[in-house]
Amino acid sequence: MKIYTAALIGAGQIAHTHLKALRSSNRARPVAIADLIEERALRLCSEYDLKAYTDYKKMVLEQKPDMVIISLPHFLHKEAAVWCAEQGCHILLEKPMALNVAECLEINDAADRNKVVAAVGHMQQFFAEHIEAKLIIESGRLGKLVMVNDKRWGNYFQASRPAWFLEKAKSGGGVVINLGSHSIDRIQWLTNSRIAKVRASLTYPGGSSDVEGSAALFMETTSGVPVYISLSGYKGVPANETELLFTGGSMRIRTRVELSIGTDGTYEPISVPPATETFVAQLESVLDAIEYRKPLSISGEYAQSIVAVVDAVYRSHETGIEQQVSPELLRASRN
Ligand SMILES: NC(=O)c1ccc[n+]([C@@H]2O[C@H](COP(=O)([O-])OP(=O)(O)OC[C@H]3O[C@@H](n4cnc5c(N)ncnc54)[C@H](O)[C@@H]3O)[C@@H](O)[C@H]2O)c1
Repeated sequence: MKIYTAALIGAGQIAHTHLKALRSSNRARPVAIADLIEERALRLCSEYDLKAYTDYKKMVLEQKPDMVIISLPHFLHKEAAVWCAEQGCHILLEKPMALNVAECLEINDAADRNKVVAAVGHMQQFFAEHIEAKLIIESGRLGKLVMVNDKRWGNYFQASRPAWFLEKAKSGGGVVINLGSHSIDRIQWLTNSRIAKVRASLTYPGGSSDVEGSAALFMETTSGVPVYISLSGYKGVPANETELLFTGGSMRIRTRVELSIGTDGTYEPISVPPATETFVAQLESVLDAIEYRKPLSISGEYAQSIVAVVDAVYRSHETGIEQQVSPELLRASRN
């Protein structure tokens, strides 16, 4: 069995979770980590006995890893992913894929040209309650889907958030591109459709940040199902849940908490079979795509469809008009 060597680019908040996943896979082996801030790379490397770099290009040229996991600020995703594809490395890129669709296209073109896998960390697809919810939806036992209501609230502007997240030029935006990407992913994936139309209304907290703090998003899927996503980064009571309404009942997913179904007045929690740890399952799906060319539900092409929706959200808020997501950008294969 081939063991795939992997190098990490970016040793910030999420890097440790990727490293743990790599360590628990018997098909992959971490070899090195690069971060501009040397102590960060050194700290993770010493924990796992790996080689630390401050220059990711030097690391890739010296180590020649089979794959890279890129966990950089959003404005660096395109540059790093295209360059790594050109070195022949398979890529697992953190979400969102890039700042806009034009950048996603460049990444996907570079991956195609160099015959490498480009995957994006849309990890919502690997949560146990999401997997079970998708099976129930596909079984048709609740009838026809008629509406989706998704809510993601949390204190986005907390002091522990790295400063680049709050600068639009570096992050691409606030709660929409960062948290909204997760909501858009889980809705598209659960309903096996794509968001096709968007009408958005955002608010901005101002102060030292120029990114949005809340969003009310009225959408419609390619199957004609209306979707409402409510995002808030202001202080208050946190929420992370999706309700799906069918002709024969409703389903409530409280991500990482519980899955419930209601057919007669109240929600009843249902038992959810345990699933492989999220980041491990995500990594294994990428390794399956590399080794066996298995279809990848988190492919670069799929991730581009999410950035296309994010682009449409910002356009809609700016123009005050409903925006269509270009059909060409919805071409990603169904999962
Ligand atoms: N899937 C999830 O649940 C999840 C959670 C958190 C973050 N993320 C995503 O992960 C990515 C990284 O987020 P984070 O929270 O870890 O950010 P972070 O700021 O903690 O980490 C980014 C790291 O990149 C380093 N860096 C910047 N420029 C560099 C360069 N040119 N070369 C090498 N290193 C460089 C920084 O020094 C920093 O350590 C983002 O895309 C973010 O949206 C995903």
